[in-house]
Amino acid sequence: MSEGANPDGVKPVISMRGVKRVAGGRVILDSVDLDVYPGETMVIMGGSGSGKSTMLRLMIGAITPEAGRVEMLGREVNPRDEMSMNDLRKRFGILFQSGALFNSMTIADNIALMLHEHTDLPRELIDFHVKLKLEAVGLLEHAGKYPAEISGGMKKRAGLARALALDPVILFYDEPSAGLDPVTSAQIDQLIVKLSKQLNVTSVVVTHEMDSAFAIADRMAMLDSGRMLAVEPKAWYDRLRRVPAEEAEGLGERERLIRQFLRGDAEGPLGERRTVEAFMESLLGVPGGLLPTPSVEPTRVR
Ligand SMILES: Nc1ncnc2c1ncn2[C@@H]1O[C@H](COP(=O)(O)OP(=O)(O)OP(=O)(O)O)[C@@H](O)[C@H]1O
Ligand SMILES: [Mg+2]
Repeated sequence: MSEGANPDGVKPVISMRGVKRVAGGRVILDSVDLDVYPGETMVIMGGSGSGKSTMLRLMIGAITPEAGRVEMLGREVNPRDEMSMNDLRKRFGILFQSGALFNSMTIADNIALMLHEHTDLPRELIDFHVKLKLEAVGLLEHAGKYPAEISGGMKKRAGLARALALDPVILFYDEPSAGLDPVTSAQIDQLIVKLSKQLNVTSVVVTHEMDSAFAIADRMAMLDSGRMLAVEPKAWYDRLRRVPAEEAEGLGERERLIRQFLRGDAEGPLGERRTVEAFMESLLGVPGGLLPTPSVEPTRVR
């Protein structure tokens, strides 16, 4: 799906409505809405602790929201409904941050394991399938190696091959380029784009790396302290990122905040707010992060 796709009549693959998540006595996500449409790559961005991984975990049914509703492929994602979850789990793949491979198994066996567990395919077909997946991520010649024998970038590729094992319709990625050097990271981005086009999968990618986000996204969702600031096509963010400083003064608070995040500027609403949070935390014992007041309100204290 291309930029600004107009999804009239197209049903979302994933839908979140009014989602609230509370953990450790704190509101981690509040009133979050998001639709992800077939074939698009949705990138979820936000600072550390803004709730990105929590969103992903809600989408895959690893945790339950305190309020609101999460749907995948037209069905409610409900971790308590084990039958329905088992069915859904066959239709999506996840690339975890570490790759999460079994160290005692070769790369090929790591992928084959998924197929042995979830299908009735005969051995020869499984082997063939594993080769196809390894080829797709450029690891065919390393099939017999163990995770300890390959680099971080290759581990990500292997994790991706495993996520692809059951031919998922949705792929989830949590920080796919975390811990990689810039070149390897760009290669993984390219692979994500290639696979989403070739396989026509819907992808949801969590990242706080701007270069990655702009390289792979069709649309981007920007989280800030558990609230959804914006869900817009990539071009919208690109325009905002390029607004010169003198014009940025005329933007609304929300746009200024997003612009600052996109540019990684030290100066701006983000810094002002962090200072307020640090102040509250150190002096009043109120935890930073989600404050009772909306996080993008104009300057809180003067
Ligand atoms: N089980 C939990 N109990 C208490 N707090 C939690 C729990 N899970 C997450 N949190 C808190 O919720 C907030 C959001 O966490 P989350 O992992 O979703 O952030 P993130 O945006 O993925 O951050 P990062 O970029 O650092 O991975 C953080 O402040 C985190 O400490
Ligand atoms: Mg995270």
